[in-house]
Amino acid sequence: MDERELIARIKTEGLHIKLEREVTSTNDILKEAAARGAKQGEVLIALSQTKGRGRLGKSFFSPLGTGVYISLLLRPDLLAAPLLTTAAAVAVCRGIGDVLGLSAGIKWVNDIYLNGGKVCGILAESGGFGDGRYAVLGLGINLLTPPGGFPEDIKEIAAPLFTAPPRGLETEELLAKIIDRFFEIYEKLPDRDFMREYRERSILTGRGVNFALGDERLFGTVLGITDDGKLRLRLGNGEEREFSSGEIEIDKDFLRELRWNRNQTMTG
Ligand code: BTN
Repeated sequence: MDERELIARIKTEGLHIKLEREVTSTNDILKEAAARGAKQGEVLIALSQTKGRGRLGKSFFSPLGTGVYISLLLRPDLLAAPLLTTAAAVAVCRGIGDVLGLSAGIKWVNDIYLNGGKVCGILAESGGFGDGRYAVLGLGINLLTPPGGFPEDIKEIAAPLFTAPPRGLETEELLAKIIDRFFEIYEKLPDRDFMREYRERSILTGRGVNFALGDERLFGTVLGITDDGKLRLRLGNGEEREFSSGEIEIDKDFLRELRWNRNQTMTG
């Protein structure tokens, strides 16, 4: 990754971008910076993380050489972490479309799917009080399949964004686009205009899914996503409910279907 080439491609003004080879967690570092008073627009990009974090307290696989890990420090007027996550999901998809010409899908709430699996995860965290309120938005992108493959626990789900090594400065272009696309949406966040695209990109709408909310296990059909990012499910008993948190368990048949479709597209 070429820091200068990356910075040269970013059009958003007022950002302070730093690239590191290895950090603990880009989200943790920017949360600490936020607590010390750092301003909106800090962007930390790492080539590897030793303590990458995902949602629900899980660790996030962050090896050197095959992924990239980004955090943005924001000081939004309204601390709407779910809205930031959905906005970021649309921004990542737009960036992928701009640079690779591919149409990525979204698995509620924060996973980007392409090439038959998850290519990017998003973690928005907020904190602070009064004028010190902040949000840190983290993006973990699988650029390539690591030598030897993805680890056992994620190998069914993870996929690389690039199926062949990126050409020239493609990675720099992609990151710059994603960052610009995010700030474009962020400037008009309360309008929620991007939610229409979020819904259109939802890969699970209309499908039956297993849904976990803490210890509770539910089965339902995904009806859609509300303007404030809640998942709408019709449960087995016909009841319709909205969820602001929880996890859809993606099933293996569906992943197989995605992979099959990808192979048809590649060979067909
Ligand atoms: C998920 O899929 O559960 C969300 C993953 C978010 C990972 C990113 S990588 C950059 C930032 N730093 C972290 O420690 N986590 C986020």
